Amino acid sequence: MNDDYGRRQRGSSGKPAVAASRGAAPKRLRGLNVRLILVSLVIVLAACSAPAAQPTALPAPAATPTATPTAIGAASASALPPAALNAQFPPIVAPPDNPTTPEKVELGRQLFFDPVLSASNGMSCATCHHPDLGFSNGAPISAPRAGAPGRNVPTLWNVAYSRHLLWDGRVESLEAQAVDPLTLPSEMAATPQGIEDKLKAIPAYVQLFDAAFGGGEAAVTFDNVARALAAFQRTLLSHDSRFDRYVAGDASALTVQEQRGLALFFSSQTHCAECHQPPTFAHGTFRVIGVPSDDPGRAGVSPTGLRGAFRVPTLRNVARSAPYMHNGSLATLEDVVHFYAQGAGGADGQTTVDPLLKGFDLSGQELADLAAFMWTLTDESALPAVPEQALSGLPVPPRIIVPSR
Ligand code: HEC
Ligand code: HEC
Repeated sequence: MNDDYGRRQRGSSGKPAVAASRGAAPKRLRGLNVRLILVSLVIVLAACSAPAAQPTALPAPAATPTATPTAIGAASASALPPAALNAQFPPIVAPPDNPTTPEKVELGRQLFFDPVLSASNGMSCATCHHPDLGFSNGAPISAPRAGAPGRNVPTLWNVAYSRHLLWDGRVESLEAQAVDPLTLPSEMAATPQGIEDKLKAIPAYVQLFDAAFGGGEAAVTFDNVARALAAFQRTLLSHDSRFDRYVAGDASALTVQEQRGLALFFSSQTHCAECHQPPTFAHGTFRVIGVPSDDPGRAGVSPTGLRGAFRVPTLRNVARSAPYMHNGSLATLEDVVHFYAQGAGGADGQTTVDPLLKGFDLSGQELADLAAFMWTLTDESALPAVPEQALSGLPVPPRIIVPSR
C-alpha cells in the first residue's frame, strides 16, 4: 500500500493537475470566487429547504441571526457537505492477539505513569506524554531517536485510530512502538530483563499481570508490558467535543465566531478539511507542507516517501498540545493559521509543497475565527485517572494547571 500521497498525486508529468488549473488566478480573485460560491450555496440551500422534507442525516443548526449575510461565516454548517461532517470514526486498530480488556487497561495505566520502567527510576511515559498537556510535553522537540532527528512529542489522543505511528509513520502498532522509548539510552534506557526483574519484585504488579494475562509471575514479561501499555493507549478516545455536539444538532455548542471558523476550515479556500478530515481530523497519508527543517520525514523511512513529508496529525485536543508541527516550531494555533495563509512552505520558495497549500487571503478576524474553531475540538472526558503515586512507590509527574478557553 502506498500512502506517500504527494508523489502519487504528481504522476509522471511532475506537475500537480490541481495546481495547474488554478495556478494563474490571483489569490484575491480566487478568494472572491469561493465567497461567491459559498454565498450562492447558502441562497440555493435556503431556497430548497422547505420545512417539510429534510431527509439528510445532518441536523441543520439554525443559522445565527447575528451573522451578516455577506460574510463567509454566514455559510453555517447547513451549507457544508453532510457526509463529511457526519463521518464515522474508523474501527480501532488492535491486533488479534491483544484484545483490550479492563484488566489490561488498568495495568497499562499503572505502567504508563510509573517511572520504574526507566533505568534511572526517573522517567515514565507520562514524563513526555503528560495528560495535562494533551499527552505531549510542551517542549518544541525531544531527544533524537535511533534513525530519526529530535521531534515534537505527538499527542496520544485517538492514537487508536492511527494506522501509521510517529511523524514519519515508521512504526505500525502500539505494541511495537513501546520498545524504543523503553530501551533507548536517550529515553528510559531500560532493558527488557531489567524491567521484568523490577516488576516481579513488586507484588501489586504481579497481581495485575496475572489478572490481565493469567499465569502468575510468568505473566510479567516485557512483551506483556508493551501489550498493556498499548491497550491503555487505545482507551484515550476523544469523541465528544463541542464540534461533535454541534454536528449532532446542538446549535448552541459553538459560538458565532467558532461557526464562522468551522465554515472556513471546511471551505475550498483553506482546504484544511481535505487533509485534516473529520471525524479524526487526521489522515493516513504523508504530505509536504514545508515547515522549514532539515528533517527528511517520510523520505527517511520509505523509498517512495517525499522529503519533508509528514503524517497528517490529528487536531483532536490540539489546543492542549502546543507547540506545533514535527519540530515544534510554531508556538500557537494562530501562528499555524498564519503559516498556512502565507502559502505554507511555498512562501519561502520550497517547490515540493502540497498543491492544496497555495495560501489564502483572509481578514484578521477570519484568521482568528479559524484558530478559534480548533479550540472546539477539545474533549478530555476520557482523561484517565492519574495515580496519586506509582505502584512502585515512585512519584508520578506533577499535575500541570493549564488555562482553558
Ligand atoms: C523522552 C520523551 C518520551 C518518552 C519518555 C516517551 N515518548 Fe512516546 N514519543 C516521544 C516522541 C518525541 C515521539 C515522536 C517521535 C517521532 O515521530 O520520531 C513519540 C511518539 C510516541 C507514539 C506515537 C504517537 C503517534 O501518534 O504517532 C506513541 C504511541 C508513544 N510515543 C508512546 C509512548 C509510550 C507508551 C511511552 C512509555 C513507554 C513513551 N511514548 C515514552 C517522546 C517520548
Ligand atoms: C496538504 C495537507 C494539509 C492541509 C491542506 C492542511 N494541513 Fe495541517 N498539517 C498537515 C501536515 C502534514 C502536518 C504536519 C506537518 C509537520 O509537522 O511538518 C500538519 C500540521 C498541522 C497542525 C499542527 C498539529 C500538531 O499537533 O502539531 C495544525 C494545527 C494544522 N495542521 C492545522 C491546519 C489548518 C488550520 C489547515 C487549513 C488552513 C491545515 N492544517 C491544512 C497537512 C495539511
